[in-house]
Order: sequence, then C-alpha cells, then structure tokens
Amino acid sequence: MLERVLSMRRAAPHTGDSDADAADESKTRKQNHVSILTARFVNHATKFNHFCPSWPWLLLLLVLFFLIPSLVQPFRSLICVANPYGAVSRAHFFGFDGLESDFGSLGVPWCRSKHGKTVEWTSKDLLKGLEEFVPIYETRPIKNNMYGMGFDHSFGLWFVARWLQPDLMIESGAFKGHSTWVLRQAMPDTPIISLTPRHPEKYLKKGPAYVDANCTYFAGKDFIDFGSVDWTTVMKKHKVTDLSRVLIFFDDHQNELKRIKQALKAGFRHLVFEDNYDTGTGDHYSLRQICDQFYISGGGHSCFRDSDEARIRSRRKKFWEKAVDTDELCSPGDAWWGVRGYARDNFNHTNQPISLTEHFENSRFVESILDVYWELPPVAGPSLTHQSRYDPARTVTPIVEDGRYGLFQRLGLGRLDNSVFNGYTQMVYLQISEH
Ligand SMILES: C[S@@+](CC[C@H](N)C(=O)[O-])C[C@H]1O[C@@H](n2cnc3c(N)ncnc32)[C@H](O)[C@@H]1O
Repeated sequence: MLERVLSMRRAAPHTGDSDADAADESKTRKQNHVSILTARFVNHATKFNHFCPSWPWLLLLLVLFFLIPSLVQPFRSLICVANPYGAVSRAHFFGFDGLESDFGSLGVPWCRSKHGKTVEWTSKDLLKGLEEFVPIYETRPIKNNMYGMGFDHSFGLWFVARWLQPDLMIESGAFKGHSTWVLRQAMPDTPIISLTPRHPEKYLKKGPAYVDANCTYFAGKDFIDFGSVDWTTVMKKHKVTDLSRVLIFFDDHQNELKRIKQALKAGFRHLVFEDNYDTGTGDHYSLRQICDQFYISGGGHSCFRDSDEARIRSRRKKFWEKAVDTDELCSPGDAWWGVRGYARDNFNHTNQPISLTEHFENSRFVESILDVYWELPPVAGPSLTHQSRYDPARTVTPIVEDGRYGLFQRLGLGRLDNSVFNGYTQMVYLQISEH
C-alpha cells in the first residue's frame, strides 16, 4: 500500500543537470551522534533482514567492524547480499564510507509554477558556489548563530543573491545580523533594508553581532512590519524603478501566504523564505505546507494508524528529530494539512484552523502567481555532515551526496563544525509572475 501511496506523489523538480525572541525549533543545535548511529544501525539492520535472514550474525560482524577496523575488508565479503544495489549500498554504512538515506522516499512536496519553469542554475553551479562560499563562511562574525541560519541556508541565500544581482535587498527578520552579513558578502555594494523589531546593534552589548553601514534599519522604535510599509515611497527614496531588481528575504516566521500576498501587492517578484517547514511542523504556514498534496494524483497523506506509511513514519521518527509520525501529522479528525489542520502565524502565537477546501484553494492561488519554485537541496548527505534533524525521506537529493567524502573535503566542508549543518528546513526561492 505504501508503495502505491508514495508512487502517486509528484517527483520534485530538478535544477537542470542531474530571537531568539522565540525559540525556533528548526535551528542549529548540537547533536547526539551515539543515539543517531544506534538508531541508524537498527534501521539498516531491519532493512537487511529482508535480504538475509541471519541478521544476528550481522550484528556480530558490525561489532567486529567497529572494534577491529583492519578486519573490515575481509569480513565485508561475508555479508549476505542478495540485492546487488540496495544491500551493497547499505553495506557501505557498516564500512563508514557512505549512508544510503532514502532521500525523498516519503515524498517531497513542492509548488508547481504556472508554466513549469525552473531556475537557470545547475548542480554544477551550486558545487562551484559551495567551493567559493566555504572560505567566506569561515570569516563570519557570528560563529554561534543559534536560533538563526546555519550553513545550508547561509549558502542558499548567498548563492541566490549573487546569481540574481539585485539592485536592492530587503530582509525581514535579522536577529543578530547574520543574514544581513550573508547578503553583504553576496553583494558588497548593494543597499539593504532590514526590518526587525530589535536592532542588531543591541546584541553587540552581549557578544558578536553584525551591523551594516549600507543598510537602512526599520528596527527598534522605527520598526514597521513588512505588510505595513508604504513600499512605493520607500522605493522612490531608494531610486528603485524596476521592482523585478529587488530581492526580498523573509526570516520572520510569519504565515508565508500572508507574506506572498503582501509582496504581490507591492509588486515584488523575487522572494526567499528561510523556513519552508514541512507539513506537520514549524511555527508558521509555509509554502511546502500550502502545496503538499495539491493534485489528486499526488495522493493524500494516510492518517490510517495501521498503515505501512504510519509504521515507516514512526520508525523514522526514532532516527531523525524532525521526522513526523502519523500522530503528529494528523489531528484526531484526520486533518493533516498545515499543522494538523491549522495555518500557524507569527511564531505560532496565532493560528487559525483551515478547512481542506481552503487548503487546496491556497495551493491553487500560489500556483496561479508562480513562475518559479526552487527548494535549496541540503548541502551534503547526513553521513558526511552528521546532521540528525531533517528527515531525508522528505527531502530532495543533497548537492554533495552520501559517500562523496573526497568531494566534501575538497570543498572545505569537512573543516566546519557539525552543528552548522543542523538547521536545514528547505529554504525556498520563489519567482512571482509579472503582474
Ligand atoms: C529566526 S530570527 C532571524 C535570524 C536571522 N535571519 C539569521 O539568520 O541570523 C527571526 C527574527 O524575526 C524577528 N521578527 C519577529 N517578528 C517580526 C516581524 N513581524 N517582522 C520582521 N521580523 C520579525 C525576530 O525579532 C527575530 O529577530
């Protein structure tokens, strides 16, 4: 049944070739490697059992693998392998050099654009970008950006800003200023407008923060919410005549549908949302949630507690902190859309119940105004980054795939602390159609 449910879902689009004011649950955090390794072992041992009935022997072999690394090679040949692709690739896990993570196996929701257009950049461009960005990231002023962006999203924002070369960048939600710094690295001379209730300079008293000299701050007593700004006047003041040359970055944990409507009204066309939370998670209604299961052919989430999907979800919950099991996904009345039938807003300080009909109306509306929807892939697979939060089963394939240790090192990613890879929440870039 699971196979049928999953196969009905749409494939994710390809890119061409191939405050701390509220504790945001998605952000960078230290991880527990031992528990995750144990959980992954149980996962993989369970999978192995389908191929080789004598898995207690595998357990013994695994112990030997860990204790006597020099014996790894000869013992590998003793592993009972019936499927040359699945099982062998899983065997890499036991040999430390790779981990098959089932990317996308539980479906990857995405918003369809009107004409099926996608971004211009390819995975090669992303790899080139990574090589350039790692040394830049190493010079960041805020080393510990807990509650702010980690490496993956910093790279995504930098990459998109550099690719688009906007005339003006606007950010909503700056916290200590890390994202302002990222925008500045991408575009050294481009003006920035930053809307954030607490001025980043306030954080300077307590530790590292970033205040930009070429940034107009709507902060502190001058704070004004993005939806209340008179953008015509502000654009005139900044001598911007072409709104398609402006990039907006939202990291303010507001309902993304609300933000899209406000941006549309103002005439902005290039938007990046930092936290594109998966269905059933997060503190605000996200693009992913809006578009999840849009088409009938995309199937529906199964809220049936005794289904294969429910069993897989509950097992994955043990391996990945942000995996969602069926009890979390579905309300007692089986509402799975948004977060258990609610569109959350403003760091989950307000939330509104929405019907299934409203949910699908929202996806239809988004599709009707979209030219491009692009989710940033994770920078590298979990066996390389040791991230333990997002569930690969709900994610597109990473830029540097599991097993590509050499590439990971060559790009300089191995020099970074593991904790910076723990904040991935499917950052998304949207291009809104011309009015
Ligand atoms: C997750 S933090 C931003 C992190 C930052 N972008 C970074 O990468 O380091 C969210 C920020 O949004 C701010 N915020 C809260 N409500 C807001 C609103 N209505 N408009 C803009 N920012 C808001 C919070 O004060 C907080 O600084």
